[in-house]
Amino acid sequence: MNRAIPDEIIEEIRSRVNIVDLLGSYVHLKRGGNGVYKALCPFHQEKTPSFTVNENRQSYHCFGCGKGGDVFRFVMERENVDFPNAVHLLASRCGVIIPEKVTYDAGGKSGRERADERERLYRLSEEFAQFFEKSLFSPSGKRALDYLHDRGIPDDVIRKFRIGYSPDEWDAAVKFARSRGFSDDEMVATGTVRRNDERRTLYDHFKGRLTFSIWNENGKVVGFSARTLEKDAPVAKYVNTPETPIFKKGNILYALPIARPEMRTQNMAILCEGQLDVIAMHRAGFQCAVAPQGTGFTVEQARILKRSTQKILLGFDSDSAGQKAILRAIELILPLDMEIGVIRFPGGKDPDELFKNEGADAIAGAVDKAENWLDFFERAMRAKYDFSSVNGRSQAAGEFLNLVKLVENAMTRELYLKRGGEMFNLSYDAMLAELAKINRAEERRFSGSAVDETKLQRQAPKPEYPANYNKAMLLLLEAALNFCDKAREMAEILPRGVLEESGFSGKALDMVLNEALYGDHDNCYKLLSSMLHEEENPEISKLCVKDTKISENDVDKIMKDCILLVKQIYKKKKQQQLTDAMRQEPSAEGRMMLLKQLIELDKQER
Ligand code: UTP
Ligand code: MN
Repeated sequence: MNRAIPDEIIEEIRSRVNIVDLLGSYVHLKRGGNGVYKALCPFHQEKTPSFTVNENRQSYHCFGCGKGGDVFRFVMERENVDFPNAVHLLASRCGVIIPEKVTYDAGGKSGRERADERERLYRLSEEFAQFFEKSLFSPSGKRALDYLHDRGIPDDVIRKFRIGYSPDEWDAAVKFARSRGFSDDEMVATGTVRRNDERRTLYDHFKGRLTFSIWNENGKVVGFSARTLEKDAPVAKYVNTPETPIFKKGNILYALPIARPEMRTQNMAILCEGQLDVIAMHRAGFQCAVAPQGTGFTVEQARILKRSTQKILLGFDSDSAGQKAILRAIELILPLDMEIGVIRFPGGKDPDELFKNEGADAIAGAVDKAENWLDFFERAMRAKYDFSSVNGRSQAAGEFLNLVKLVENAMTRELYLKRGGEMFNLSYDAMLAELAKINRAEERRFSGSAVDETKLQRQAPKPEYPANYNKAMLLLLEAALNFCDKAREMAEILPRGVLEESGFSGKALDMVLNEALYGDHDNCYKLLSSMLHEEENPEISKLCVKDTKISENDVDKIMKDCILLVKQIYKKKKQQQLTDAMRQEPSAEGRMMLLKQLIELDKQER
């Protein structure tokens, strides 16, 4: 995607935006020595500053939560946008114009124009919100207001959540927007007005409905969710804003701007099903409640929550659709290594009903009794399978392992497996063996059988280097960053494969060695932090902000030791990988090819 924006433009923006100015507009930076600044981290809660900005290297890193990178990375994280959008945001900030041809959604508009256009859509959406709010409290809104009062929602709550009413006329919003000087295209672009192509007319999308205004993370109105006032009407209960340039439902969470600070203080987020449930939760004292918007819960939404808290409580209905939604949400959250709880609302009610009938204490009671997702899962499985039979238990265990395989943290995975063993009355070893089987089956599914070298490489299990390998690679990187002559030496003696197959640290080291040989070694730190917008890497962003502790006296010894270690481990792994691949390779031709590589490898090092 970012290929669409030329590198020169990206570099131009980078050269115009100073990281200290940019970050200083988000956090309070305290100057230390040597172009280093400190602040309280905006990505996690802390009392003493561990968020560090290095002006010379144009990079930041938090020693508390590990987040770090360059200016683009910061905007991506903080504004929750992808790379191209981060570029656009910074471009408009520093007045760089992104040339027409290359903007990624064509339409022949420059970045500047697009930014202005978005700004107008925000403004119009805000105008619509005010228009609907006013109309709710006008005589024509009486029916809607009565409806809200009947549901037990008082005026202060209506105002706080900016609930409104779209008049029951086909073009009231159209006329209003026109009177405010907005064009037809702009109205349609917000999604609040629709176009009838046949009759070439515009009409209101939310006519005669209650409107819940939807805010983005910064509290700007970006759309609406509109509820009918009819009971059991033949029409859709809710009509939502479609995807627009400013409304991407997959990464919007209802009430997020209010909930976000609360998530930090209450140390959890509560995920509900819809607007009215969120509102009930907030009224009951749980302002950390949010809801996905007109779709199921998405990974992006889970990631947004993870930026503020480690714990999500699922507050869905307990009907069968709700149960499915809970399982689906667990599946999405598990890979993020967050704590997951499930709230059970007594009597199968939703939070809205429970709050209305039994008040805040009943909600608080339910939240207090939230169960761990494993307990929820066990109950669901017991309802689905017959646990008295081995067959039933092993089927349930199969479903369980399909969730556990998503967990990347090895310690968490082990804990879950142990718990799973108890749950299904199966031994830990059996669980582990089964999990390995699932993983292998999946690997096989992703690889073909034709003989070619790249495929063979892929088929072989990925080498997993021990932690000291990574440490050695990082030390080498640090040495190469700080001693240009050493970097040149390394370039001579490190086998290519090490650089190519050591993930991010390999790529980074490769860049530094290249700069030392052919480019501008002084520029390495900046280049390194700019690599971090593609991928997060706490170890490397830390390296970018701190001063090296490697002294001129030690560097030779460190380098020698690290290279030796890295080479040894690399060679061993490579051999293992090739032998494994040979064992699995069905064709003689393929085995020959692998054998040749093995012999090559052996020769190289002597
Ligand atoms: P609910 O059906 O629970 O809404 O849908 P509700 O207003 O709370 O219903 P009642 O009055 O108690 O029966 C929950 C959420 O699902 C989305 C909305 O965001 C809603 O808040 N939804 C529901 C839609 O997007 N479209 C629909 O047609 C229904
Ligand atoms: Mn409801």
